[in-house]
Order: sequence, then C-alpha cells, then structure tokens
Amino acid sequence: GDPGWTREADVVVVGSGIAGLTAALRLRGQVGKILVVTKDVLSAGSTQWAQGGIAAALGPGDTPHEHEVDTLVAGAGACDLEAVRVLVNEGPDAVRELIALGANFDHAADGELSLTREGGHHRDRIAHAGGDATGAEIQRALVAAIEAAPDVEVIQHALAVDLQLGAAGEVCGLTLHVMGEGQRDGVGQVRCRAVVLASGGLGQVFSQTTNPSVSTGDGMALALRAGAVLRDLEFVQFHPTVMYLGPDSTGQQPLISEAVRGEGAFLVDFEGNRFMQGVHELADLAPRDVVAKAITRRMHEEGKPHMWLDARHLGREFWEKRFPTILATARSHGVDPVTELIPVAPACHYASGGVATDLWGRSTITGLYATGEVACSGVHGANRLASNSLLEGLVFSRRIAQVLPGELGAQTEPVADPRTPGVIDGKVRTAMQATMTEQVGVLRSASGLDLALTSLGELAAVDGVEGTSSWETTNLVSISAALATAARLREETRGSHWREDFGERDDAAFAGHFDVVLTDGVP
Ligand code: SIN
Repeated sequence: GDPGWTREADVVVVGSGIAGLTAALRLRGQVGKILVVTKDVLSAGSTQWAQGGIAAALGPGDTPHEHEVDTLVAGAGACDLEAVRVLVNEGPDAVRELIALGANFDHAADGELSLTREGGHHRDRIAHAGGDATGAEIQRALVAAIEAAPDVEVIQHALAVDLQLGAAGEVCGLTLHVMGEGQRDGVGQVRCRAVVLASGGLGQVFSQTTNPSVSTGDGMALALRAGAVLRDLEFVQFHPTVMYLGPDSTGQQPLISEAVRGEGAFLVDFEGNRFMQGVHELADLAPRDVVAKAITRRMHEEGKPHMWLDARHLGREFWEKRFPTILATARSHGVDPVTELIPVAPACHYASGGVATDLWGRSTITGLYATGEVACSGVHGANRLASNSLLEGLVFSRRIAQVLPGELGAQTEPVADPRTPGVIDGKVRTAMQATMTEQVGVLRSASGLDLALTSLGELAAVDGVEGTSSWETTNLVSISAALATAARLREETRGSHWREDFGERDDAAFAGHFDVVLTDGVP
C-alpha cells in the first residue's frame, strides 16, 4: 500500500508516562534526535491515575533490604532477586531525583517526607503527593520538563503499529498511525536506531479495570509480532478495592487506594464481619492477591457482586485532606465515604509480566528496550507489591539511559517492506473482554481457559479495516491469547494467578517463568 510519510530519529520512545518521559529526559544530549510518540495526549496514560504513591526506603530506619524482603514475599517466589535489588537500592535516589525535577510530594509537619503504608509493606514507605493524587503530580512535573526540552520532539495521537527490523534482526524503524497532527496524519514510517517501549499495560483486556482506555497492550503486542520474548503474562494483578458501580459498568472504574486501608479503613461483608482478620497476619493490609482472593471468596459465599469498605471513622476532615480525589469521585457516584460504606470489588489493575528485559531494560531484540508496565524486568514476580510500579519505570528508564547510548548501531534498512498486520474488527472488543473477564479473570480453570482460547480464536478471524479501533482490538486479542495460553500452562496457584483446579502453590513443580513467543502467528 501507500508507504505514507517518512521521518528520521535516532531513538523513538513509545509512551509518555513516568517510564517514557524519564527515559526521554535522561537520554537528552546523549543520542542525537529523540522522538516521543504517544497514542493520546502526553498525560493520558496510567501514571496520572496512580493514587497511593511511590515506594522507596526513604524513611528513618527503613532500608532497601526491608523493601526487598517485602517485594519478594509479595511476588510469591517468582521475582528475580537481582532485579529486585536494583529496584530497591536505586529507588531512593531515583525518587530524590524526581523531587529535584519539581514533583511536589507531601511533607509532614516536621518537614520530612510524609510516608504511608499499603498492602504487603511492613513499614511506612510510600511517598505521596496531593494526598491521593501522586500520579497526577508526577505526570505534571514530567510533562513540564519535556515541554521545556526543545530538543525532544513529541508526536501525540500516534499509535505505534509495528517495528521494522534489519538483516540481523535489529530495530531500524517503527510504523506509526497518526491522527489529527496535520501533515503527519495517516500511516507513516520513522527510521530510527533504537526504540524504547514505555507504552504501559493491558487493562482493557478485561471488562472492568482501573486502567484508562489507552491501556490496550499495544507495546506488548507489537513486541510479540516482532519476535520478542514476553514473560509472566499470566500474572495480572486484580486490585482488591475498586468501587463497584453495578453490573453494567465497564471500562475504567474508580480506584479506592490501598492507602485508605493503610490509614485504617477495613473490609466488611454484608453481615458487617471483618473477614480479613484471621486470613493473614497483616489482615486488611495483606498483599494485594491475598485480599483480592478473600474478597472474591466472600462474594461467592454470600452470592454478592461486591463487598464493602468501611472508612467512616477516618472522619470528614481527614478524608478531605488526605484523600480529596477519592472523596470527590465516590461522592460523584452517589456514595459519601464519610458516612457510608463504599461498595468494592476486585478489578484488573496491573500487568506484572510483559516484554522480557534484562537488568538494563534490554529486550531480546537488538535495539529494543522496554521499561515500566509494558516490561517484565522480574521485579514483580507473581504479584506486584503496592507502589512499586512507578518506581520500576523510574529506575529502569534511568538504567536504559545509561547503556543505550553506547549500544546504538548504525541506521540500517528494513529487510522487508514495512507492512501493517492484518487487523481484527473493533466490534469484537466487548465479546473479547467478557470472555477474558469470565474465564481468565481472578479465578481460572483449565476448562475455562480452553473455552477462552477457542473463543479468542473465533474472534481473531473477524477481519476489519485498518484504523485505531481495529489495531487496538488486534493487539488486545493477541495479548489475550498469549495471556490465556500462559495461564493454561501454569498448573498451580501463585500470587495473582489463581487456579480453581490447582489450588495450591506448588514449589516442588515450580516451572519458573513462562515465556511466550510467536510461532506461525500463534502464541
Ligand atoms: C493504590 O493506590 O492502591 C494503588 C497502588 C498501586 O497500584 O501500587
């Protein structure tokens, strides 16, 4: 078809959350021309939605080692120790740098950084901003820094479609589909020497998620099509306390931060029982997978679509000061947390797996790096510890900027004509989400996963015409199939992967990671 426009850059960063913008800012002055492409506007990704905060051993008496232990325990035996050590050891400096860049974190009366607690942490370790608007403040500071960097070009409304590879399998370009940017509209090619994928997660694979509408697994699907190894896709984290808005509410749902439990809120069932007591030594602040499972069990036992979060005792003044965003959101949905219980249920929150990377953010393809939620650096294992996600993007983007400049090869030519993939019709998305939610959600079984794989195969055969909706749907369906395949293979219950038919963690048979690569178009 029409090759469209062509542009040149040395490095293309795909995505504009904490991972992408940190990578771009730190690569400045080291690699020639940097281009940031983002599917919506600069601030539309998941980072701005982060509430609780960012975890690092910054408090008096805390140590990276204690942060490491909490991370490993939450990860349920599936973390890579070296990657976790990088995360916790470099975390404090990375957060200090973010503060120096201009992100305004909350401080206590004594002038020290205010730190809170979330599930799985044995200490107050979570730095936050604007009470419960941490991500929005970080995003604001990063966007301001990028906008003040005249040497970084940004193209918004640009969906990364496919990588182009040279004769030795190295990255030499990227196909983009751009809308509403004038002369660059339509499909075009960027010739480049490296790509940093920082395009976030896959929450839209499920019917209900805390993720924004842009989280359609594009980066993972693009990497999979190019032949990169994807890892640990079955470990999708369901956040325990997402506000329940009724059976017909789909797409992005309101998060009620774990920090609300960190400040003393607790879960109750329809009889008012505090059912987390006795389930785990940390009760309502157990790691996220433990709480999500306990809520789901109780929902099944009581035959209810949700449980309740009781935070009334925190009081009006505290709510207004500490959780202004959540308070306003809950009220906008007709619930006043100061006087009423909040209906909550688990919903898809975070992809712990993704594009497999080493300790320096390198994928298995030369010239392709990955950082943040799109990546699987090994720090999250089977269940990410609360507030380690912003930190991962920050730390590993810094690392990429340390090695990438020295590894840039010459600009090469693609071996094949740039092509766009055959696309699946956007209208299958709702059916796909329903299948994934029903069969590949919180609770899984072999029979359900087989049903899902059959149904995804049928949906994949519904051809569409090229365009954003069909490209996103193509990405969602291929990532769903890869995820369901990995979930089918893992015949045990571990972290956020919960199998009805293999209910126990099986350390003796622990198969390590499940890598997914494409063979003949099938994961
Ligand atoms: C939250 O605020 O509960 C979310 C924190 C996280 O996802 O790490």
